[in-house]
Amino acid sequence: MAQAPRILKTKVGIIGGGPAGLMLSHLLSKVGIENIVVEKNDHETIRNTHRAGILEAQAVTMLTESGVDGRVLTHGDEHAGIDLRFNGESHPLDFRELVDATVTLYAQNEVFVDLAAARSRDGGDVRFNCEVNEILDVETSTPKFRFTNAEGELFEVQADVIVGADGSRSFARRQMPDAVKQDFKVTYPFAWFGILTEAPKSAPELIYANSPHGFALISQRSETVQRMYFQCDPNENVDNWSEDRIWSELQKRVDGPDGFELKTGPIFDKTVLGFRSFVRQPLSHGRMFLIGDAGHTVPPTGAKGLNLAFAEVKVLFEALDSYFSTGSDKLLGGYSDLALKRVWKAQNFFYWMTSMLHTPVNADPFMAQRALGELDTVTSSRYGQQYLAESYTGWPHA
Ligand code: PHB
Repeated sequence: MAQAPRILKTKVGIIGGGPAGLMLSHLLSKVGIENIVVEKNDHETIRNTHRAGILEAQAVTMLTESGVDGRVLTHGDEHAGIDLRFNGESHPLDFRELVDATVTLYAQNEVFVDLAAARSRDGGDVRFNCEVNEILDVETSTPKFRFTNAEGELFEVQADVIVGADGSRSFARRQMPDAVKQDFKVTYPFAWFGILTEAPKSAPELIYANSPHGFALISQRSETVQRMYFQCDPNENVDNWSEDRIWSELQKRVDGPDGFELKTGPIFDKTVLGFRSFVRQPLSHGRMFLIGDAGHTVPPTGAKGLNLAFAEVKVLFEALDSYFSTGSDKLLGGYSDLALKRVWKAQNFFYWMTSMLHTPVNADPFMAQRALGELDTVTSSRYGQQYLAESYTGWPHA
C-alpha cells in the first residue's frame, strides 16, 4: 500500500530554495506569514553552482534593508560603469554620471549563502534535498504539493498559496495545463565558455568586447579570482581547451592598438553555458505563482537573471501581504501582468545586447558591420549611453 504522506500545514508553500524562493520566504516570515521552502538540491550543490554576479542597487537594498546581511556591502564591489570594447577600442560608460546609478559585483552563490544563513538564523523552515513529485488542487482554495525527503519519507504541504521558484527546469511550471499557457522562446546558435582563474584584475570594471573572433566578457570575483567568458559553439567540449588555448582566444578578442593585455593565471573552472530566452505566460495559474527562472530565462549578456527574480519577489510579496492581511486577492490577480511587463523589457534589453555584441554565427559580414554601427551609435550619443545605462542598472521596481 502506498505510504500515507505526513501533512504540513502552512500559508505559503514555496517550491525551490534558490535566491528567489529564499528571499520570498524571508520577506514573508518578517511580516509573520508562515511558509515552508522545499528544495531539490543540497546546500553545497547550489553554493557551488556558478552564476552571474551583477546586482542592481535595488537588489542590494532588498538584501540589506530586509536584514538578510550586510556582507554584500563589505564583500561586494560597487561598479560605476562598464567598458564597451569594439574595433579594438575602449568605450567606457559611466553609469553614475549618466543615470546616477551603480551596480554591485557580488556573485549569486554568495547571495544564496547569505539568504540560507538568514533563514536558518531566523528559524525559517527550509528543507534541502527534498524532491517535489506532485502538485495538486491549484485551481481550488486548498492547493497542495507532495515531496519526498532524502530518507524517502513522503510529506504533503497544504497551503493557501503555492509558489514555483524552482528554476529554469521548473517542475511547477510543467504542471500548468496546456489550455491556459503560452510559451515564447528564442534559441541562439552560440554559448558562452566561462572560466574562473586565479589572477589579478585585468581592468577595474567589466569589459564587454565585440571582436571579429566573437564576443568576450572580462568580469571579476575578487582581487585574486577573475571570471571571464567567450562566445563559443554550444557543443564545445571544455576538454579540448588547454589553458594556453583559452588565454590566446580571450586575448585575441580584446586585442587593440592600445596594447591592452589580459592578466593571466591558472584556470580552475571551465564550463559551457547555454543561451536562450524563454517566457511562460501567464506567470500564475489558480493559486500557484511562478517567480524567477521558473517563469522565464534570460541570456547572461545583461547579467539580470537574479535581479529580475528579486523584482518579482517584491511584487508577489506585496500581493501576498495584502491577501493575508485584507483577504482581497486583487493584487495577486494582477501579479502575472505586472511581473511580465518587466520580464519583456528585460528580454528586449538582453536580446539587444546579445545581438549587438556577438558575432553572427553564419559570419554574415553585413550583420557584423551593422552591429558595429549600432555600438558606434550607442557610444557616441549621450541618449544611447543613457538608454543602455538605465536598462543595465535596472528600471525602478513596480
Ligand atoms: C559574471 O560576473 O559572472 C557576469 C557579469 C556580467 C554578465 C554576465 C556574467 O553580463
